[in-house]
Amino acid sequence: MMKTPSICSPLFALLVIFSCSWAVSSDGYDDFIQCMSLQSNNDSSISNVVYTPNNTSYSSILNFSIQNLRFTSETTPKPLLIVTPVQESQIQPIIYCAKENGMQIRVRSGGHDYEGLSYASEVPFVILDLFNLREISVDADNKTAWVQSGSTIGELYYRISETSQTLGFPAGVCPTVGVGGHFSGGGYGALLRKYGLAADNIIDARLVDVNGRILDRKSMREDLFWAIRGGGGASFGVILAWKIQLVDVPEQVTVFTINKTLDQNATNIVHRWQYIAHKFNEDLFIGVYIRRVNSKLFFEEEAEEAEMILSPYGGRMEEISDSAIPFPHRAGNLYKIQHLVYWEQEEIEASDKYINWIRKLYSYMAPYVSRFPRAAYINYRDLDIGVNNKGNTSYAQANIWGIKYFKNNFNRLVHVKTKVDPANFFQNEQSIPSLYSWWNKNGK
Ligand code: FDA
Repeated sequence: MMKTPSICSPLFALLVIFSCSWAVSSDGYDDFIQCMSLQSNNDSSISNVVYTPNNTSYSSILNFSIQNLRFTSETTPKPLLIVTPVQESQIQPIIYCAKENGMQIRVRSGGHDYEGLSYASEVPFVILDLFNLREISVDADNKTAWVQSGSTIGELYYRISETSQTLGFPAGVCPTVGVGGHFSGGGYGALLRKYGLAADNIIDARLVDVNGRILDRKSMREDLFWAIRGGGGASFGVILAWKIQLVDVPEQVTVFTINKTLDQNATNIVHRWQYIAHKFNEDLFIGVYIRRVNSKLFFEEEAEEAEMILSPYGGRMEEISDSAIPFPHRAGNLYKIQHLVYWEQEEIEASDKYINWIRKLYSYMAPYVSRFPRAAYINYRDLDIGVNNKGNTSYAQANIWGIKYFKNNFNRLVHVKTKVDPANFFQNEQSIPSLYSWWNKNGK
C-alpha cells in the first residue's frame, strides 16, 4: 500500500550530499575531553554527557532526533563527539574547548533542519545537543512562559494547556519541532494570520555567547536580540531559553485545508485563492495541499508522493514591519510554498532521482513566485540557494543566499555578527559572515 506522506513524519530521503565520510581518530576528541574535564574542575559528571564514537549509545543519540532520514546514511559525515549537557553551566567549557581544539560546534535542539546542519558537516565538529534542557515554566497570570531550547513545540503547547485553556502560542504545526531552531528561524503555524510568527512573540532570551557569557535581552542588547529572532540562532551563539508572550486563543479558529489532486481541479482553486486568501478573516488559517502539479512534466513516477503546501499570509503578517525582526516576508507576500517529495528507497541513485525531480519542480515554479530575489524561508533550509565558501565566509558569497532569506535585513545581520562573533566561531554552510574575520583572512 502506498504510504500517505505527511509533513509531520520523518522525511524519507536518503540523498548523500557529502561524498566523503569523516575519519575519526581518537586524537580528535581526547584533547577535547581532557580540556572539558579541566575546564569543569575535573567534574566527573562531564563524562556522563560526552559520547564518543566508541560509546555504545553514540549512534542512537546521534540518530534519535534526525528528521531527514537521508542523513542517517553511513556516508553522512559524523561528529567527533556528541555532548548533551544537563546544566547550562556545562556549555561554556564546550565552547572554550571546541575553540581550543579547532572544532566547529553544531547546536541541535529538535533536529528538524532540512539540510541536517545541526548534526552533519564535512569539517571536524562536535554536536552540542540540548535535548536534556527542556524545562518549561508558564506564568498564566502574566501571560508569559520561559521555555528551554531543547523542548519541542508539542511539549510547550501541552504545558500551556495544563495551566490555561484560553492561552496559546503561535508556533508550528508539528509537535516534534524543537523550539531552539524553530523560534530562531521565525516559526509559523495555524495562528500565523492572527498573531504572526513565534519569533514576533518573543520578549526575552538567554544565550551563551562566543566568550561563554550567559546573556539575557538586556545584557546582549537589542541588536543581538533582534538577530536571533528570525536570523537563525546558529550564527550568533547557543540560545538556552526563550521568554515568550502567550496569546489568547481565539474563540473559534477555523482551519481550512484544501487537499486536492489535479483531477480535482487543484490548480484552478489555487489560482483563485492566491489573490483572495490574504483578505480573509485573520482567525482563519488556510492551507492548500496539492498533489500532482499541473504539467505533463510532473506526471513522472517521482511525483507519486510529492506535494506542495501553500500557507497564505495576510492578517497580522501584513501589519508587522519587514524589518521588525530579520524575517522580511510580510505585506505583499501572498503565501509561502513548501515543495516536498518523499521516497523510501535507500540507494543513492533513487535519492538522486527524487532530488533531481524536486529541483525541476522548483525551477518550473519560477515564473509564478517572487523574483529578484526569489525569496526563501530559513526554516525551510535549502543549500541549493547558495552556501558559504569553506573556511572563508565572504560577504559576497553569503549575500547570494542571505538576500533570499533576509532581503534588506541581511546587512544588519552581518553587522551584528561582526560585532558579537568577529572571529566567526559560530559558523556553518549558511551562517552569517563576519566582515572582520574575512578581512583578517584576506589581508584587507
Ligand atoms: P535543529 O535542531 O535541526 O536546528 C535547526 C537550526 O537551528 C540549526 O542550524 C541549528 O544549529 C540551529 N539551532 C538549533 N537550536 C539552537 C540553539 N539553541 N541555539 C542556536 N542555534 C540553534 N517550520 C515552521 O515554521 N512551521 C512548521 O509548522 C514546521 N513544521 C515542520 C515539520 C517537520 C516535520 C520538519 C522537519 C520541519 C518543520 N518546520 C516547520 C521547519 C522547522 O521550523 C525548522 O526545521 C527548524 O529550524 C527546526 O528547529 P529544530 O530545533 O527542530 O532543528
